[in-house]
Amino acid sequence: MKGIHSILIAFSLLAFACLLASAFDPSPLQDFCVAIKDIKDGVFVNGRFCKDPKLAVAEDFFFSGPNKPGNTSNQVGSNAIIVDVDKIPGLNTLGISLARIDYARYGLNPPHTHPRGTEILAFKIGKTKAVAFVGFSSQNAGVITNAKAAFGSNQPINPDVLAKAFQLDKDVVKYLQSRLWSG
Ligand SMILES: *[C@@H]1O[C@H](CO)[C@@H](O)[C@H](O)[C@H]1NC(C)=O
Repeated sequence: MKGIHSILIAFSLLAFACLLASAFDPSPLQDFCVAIKDIKDGVFVNGRFCKDPKLAVAEDFFFSGPNKPGNTSNQVGSNAIIVDVDKIPGLNTLGISLARIDYARYGLNPPHTHPRGTEILAFKIGKTKAVAFVGFSSQNAGVITNAKAAFGSNQPINPDVLAKAFQLDKDVVKYLQSRLWSG
């Protein structure tokens, strides 16, 4: 008890020692920047051009769909609904987006990376299916699916290179390159 008292006293003294405190949120120059799709003059900005804030409407910040499960009847048994700045233009400059991934039994989300975002997932796992709710630290985290990047790229990678890199027979590489890759 005595120890706790001394710590409390020490903290109180420290608090009094510092009379000035300053705390503030980062100060953006605007509250929001609803993205516009049409970039007529071709000037590059790192993101999207903003709509005139006076013309922003509620729909710029709304997207309906991820409340329902995606269709998992496909090769991998999963379905990702990505809700990024393309779906909610109001996410522009806010550094956030989200996704919903549904999994059928034994379904999987093929190995991939998000080049522009960190991802956090919350899973709800049932007996025959599962769902993940995803948050990204980017308005458009992007996705590179490993198998597609290697075997479904456009232009195709030289089969000799892939055969050597993945230690595969060239015929196997050609077979893989003939498949339709999602992602
Ligand atoms: C799900 O996708 C499969 C394959 O494309 C299709 O046959 C089926 O009708 C879809 N189911 C629903 C509920 O949309």
